[in-house]
Amino acid sequence: MSKKIAIIGGGNLGTAIAEGLINSGFVLPEHIIITKRNIVTLKPLEEKGVLISNNNMEAANYADWIILAVKPFQIKEILQQLKPHLQASRHKLVSVMTGVWIKDLQEVLGSDFTLFRAMPNTAIAIQQSITCICKHKASDDESNYVIDLFNKLGKTVFIEEKLMDASTVLGACGTAFAMRYIRANIQGGIEIGFDAATATLIAAQTVKGAAELLLTKHTHPEQEIDKVTTPKGCTIAGLNEMEHQGFSSSLIKGIVTSYKKIVTDM
Ligand SMILES: NC(=O)c1ccc[n+]([C@@H]2O[C@H](COP(=O)([O-])OP(=O)(O)OC[C@H]3O[C@@H](n4cnc5c(N)ncnc54)[C@H](OP(=O)(O)O)[C@@H]3O)[C@@H](O)[C@H]2O)c1
Repeated sequence: MSKKIAIIGGGNLGTAIAEGLINSGFVLPEHIIITKRNIVTLKPLEEKGVLISNNNMEAANYADWIILAVKPFQIKEILQQLKPHLQASRHKLVSVMTGVWIKDLQEVLGSDFTLFRAMPNTAIAIQQSITCICKHKASDDESNYVIDLFNKLGKTVFIEEKLMDASTVLGACGTAFAMRYIRANIQGGIEIGFDAATATLIAAQTVKGAAELLLTKHTHPEQEIDKVTTPKGCTIAGLNEMEHQGFSSSLIKGIVTSYKKIVTDM
């Protein structure tokens, strides 16, 4: 029998997690309870058999695994409400909230609970996320369960908690960076003759294929570039011009700027 899971905060991320877990068959719909204050938007999940509620305490009483998916500023109050209903011997908590540290959760809950932090990205909605995970007081079985869960929603990697901000930049903000790269390709594609829809298809599928090459063949990007660059050819001419204009440098500077922002402001 699958374990019972409560998702506290049925917004974009919470509902995407619920849908992915049901679609993948990881858990029976009736073994998930999902909460928010206004439950009208949860009706589609209810129609699939998921339990919905506006009562977080009810959810905690129902489930052993609790996924915290509210906005960071809401969590302290919610945990204070939940605390009398939580037992360290029973409940395991998984926070997907950006910028909420294990020590922040422990400030309310104490240090006895098994806690995980997970940083997915928006591709979790189509089960194609990369989810970076760190843990506190977790057994091997508990860690494996969390890996299995997020593997149903894409790929996973365990990291140290000190890298959580970096994982937010590379993995979660990274979706926006990739989108802007694809958009630029579309704009260029239109200028050299394609309509927008065809340019979008070519640009998006090309990026997807390039990523799949790395993920399936485990090659270095430069090895794949070597296969495309004929001496004196058009690819190397375009690539070198991009580099003259600061292509790699601007991406690295953008990533470092995002990181500095998250570390200093959030
Ligand atoms: N979106 C992403 O791709 C992404 C990626 C990584 C991490 N995150 C993190 O995930 C968290 C959620 O992000 P999101 O984009 O899903 O935000 P969101 O759509 O605003 O979802 C938050 C949900 O929490 C509910 N909520 C508020 N107060 C509540 C309470 N007292 N009890 C139960 N539910 C309550 C809200 O619904 P009501 O107002 O109806 O209660 C809302 O639906 C954030 O901390 C974010 O940092 C998001």
